[in-house]
Amino acid sequence: KYAILNGKMIARSEAKVDVEDRGYQFGDGVYEVIRVYNGKMFTAKEHLKRFVKSSESIGIYIPYTIDQLTESLEELIEKNKLHLGTIYMQITRGVAPRNHAFPTADVSPTLVAYTKEVARPEDSLNSGVKTIIMEDIRWLRCDIKSLNLLGNLLAKQKAADEGCFEAIQHRGQDVTEGSSSNVFIVKNGVVITHESNNLILKGITKDVILQVCTDNNVPVEERTFTLEELEQADEVFLSSTTSEVMPIVEIDGKKVKEGLTGPVTRKLQELFEREIV
Ligand code: PDD
Repeated sequence: KYAILNGKMIARSEAKVDVEDRGYQFGDGVYEVIRVYNGKMFTAKEHLKRFVKSSESIGIYIPYTIDQLTESLEELIEKNKLHLGTIYMQITRGVAPRNHAFPTADVSPTLVAYTKEVARPEDSLNSGVKTIIMEDIRWLRCDIKSLNLLGNLLAKQKAADEGCFEAIQHRGQDVTEGSSSNVFIVKNGVVITHESNNLILKGITKDVILQVCTDNNVPVEERTFTLEELEQADEVFLSSTTSEVMPIVEIDGKKVKEGLTGPVTRKLQELFEREIV
């Protein structure tokens, strides 16, 4: 398999970075995960735009255009004969002697991309997943897809330790998002999810779902909702590039309704599937 390192296609096993890469030492960089269905990137433009936005918001400037990035990722998919999987890409501020302050402008960023074969999570999409609720202890720029994921990792691991798939995070009474997903509730037929501000990542899958709702006259509200609304919801689901529209059937050991996927979630799964195939 191949990887792209700073514009060059090389063997995956040859893709290495220096111990003083700022991504390695500080998590000083941003990333994206892009889904590949049928050998084609899904919502590539949206992901690459967010990549540029995240990157520029921390003062890292990608030395390629979105068209150039698209072209090289397409080449990578072809080289790796990837049919169903993901592309992982990240950019860091580059290699420089360790110092919290940014290095001088002559230090160029490190950009890496590689692929992975990943099946669709069909069993979980059918049966739904279990979750826990956890306080959101992350920073206040969760809109940046930062490599610094410790808060997210601690949340995900706590969920895993309890035999669950995801941790639903909250700040005070307000539900924010999952450790690696956005969270939705359905109440009286209305789909509700946190507005895209600094407290959550503006998920590409979330935006596809919102668009699908609008196009199909499913009422949506993008607003903060509370733990109480979560508890009283008719249906709950999460979304991400790899999880798609994933039903949540249990929260902190309590079943959501009867512990079955609700009708609105099912409908959105069907509508989402039409977008990807
Ligand atoms: N996670 N919120 C967080 C904190 C995330 O890490 C992700 C994605 C999402 C959903 O975003 P999208 O629909 O654009 O994938 C929301 C990726 C998949 C990951 O870290 O692996």
